[in-house]
Amino acid sequence: MLAKTPPMGWNSWNTFGENINEKVVLETADAMVKTGLKDAGYEYVVIDDCWSKRERDENGRIAADPVKFPHGMKFVADYVHEKGLKFGMYSCAGTKTCAQYPGSFDHEYLDAKTFAEFGVDFLKYDFCFKPEHAKGQLLYHRMGMALKASGREILFSACNWGCDSVETWIRTAGAQMYRSTGDIADNFKSMSDIAVSQLGKLAYSGVGCFNDMDMLVCGMHNQGNVAAGGMSDSEYLFHFALWCVCQSPLMIGCDVRNMSAATLSTLTNKELIRINQDEEARPIYPVSGKPVDSLLIGFKHLADNEYILAAFNFTDTAISPWNGYVNLFDIGMPVSGELGLRLRDVMTGEDVGVVKEYLALPLQARDFRIYRGTAVEAN
Ligand code: GLA
Repeated sequence: MLAKTPPMGWNSWNTFGENINEKVVLETADAMVKTGLKDAGYEYVVIDDCWSKRERDENGRIAADPVKFPHGMKFVADYVHEKGLKFGMYSCAGTKTCAQYPGSFDHEYLDAKTFAEFGVDFLKYDFCFKPEHAKGQLLYHRMGMALKASGREILFSACNWGCDSVETWIRTAGAQMYRSTGDIADNFKSMSDIAVSQLGKLAYSGVGCFNDMDMLVCGMHNQGNVAAGGMSDSEYLFHFALWCVCQSPLMIGCDVRNMSAATLSTLTNKELIRINQDEEARPIYPVSGKPVDSLLIGFKHLADNEYILAAFNFTDTAISPWNGYVNLFDIGMPVSGELGLRLRDVMTGEDVGVVKEYLALPLQARDFRIYRGTAVEAN
């Protein structure tokens, strides 16, 4: 079974856009091994839009651009596989991709076969240029079935940006992940708006099919295709932690060939990845209601009777203990105090001891805390 836990990998779009080519992909695969990203769990190397010729060939097949990919796609797939990684590609449910290369509309079965012949393990499937008369849901169903008929196991990554209440039907189309929002830009507002917009919708996300809040912009620092101001290293850590507690797929968007130590340390944070890969995949419960430009306090059940209690301050001002605290009654603990939570701060490793009644959560601007632990008898 694919996607028992949220898929992890790298995607070319955020940094490279249309400047994607064989050299970049091969060097990225090398870097994923060398830097330890592969060992941290990142598996898929995915080429996004702009990889093909502008027209289909004489047999109606999509073909790689020979200038960008001089040895063809099978060569790239073989190289990625030799590194112990998996290979992903991109197409679109409409007649053209978003960057106006050939889309798979009405060619779904042929294209799925072509991807299988290339050695593809993952297909991102976009939503531009959908003919008016065609039903979006049907197009995702069709590609879902085409991939199954292709003769190869291919993870289906749907990307209709949350249209048509995608979360309510996408599982029926066989997808393993589904983009739930418009495109991320490299700044704090875009990132936090995306996360906040999904907090009420995470109950649809779970084992076998995960809500994809878009590729990460961690470490991009205002370089590349989605540059929009950039963020600081601590804001990128906030972004990564948020994607982890929401159990979004973790698709790296920066240039992994040239990462800073801070970026690598964020992307390989063991405790955060462990939360992201929790096998029960239960949604986070926003204790404080739905935060808009404010504070999110969330509680989440993990496997093995563990929990996390997380707090994210989206605002530009510090939150004092008077305003930032959680009453344990509000997460479901008994009022009598016979149970407490034995907690550990996952970022610092600090043992917080057994917390009863309430926990203070003082936070700096754009700061977060995540505590992990179990419920224990408090007396
Ligand atoms: C859409 C998608 C992006 C990216 C581009 C490529 O905007 O949402 O993630 O794939 O198309 O053109």
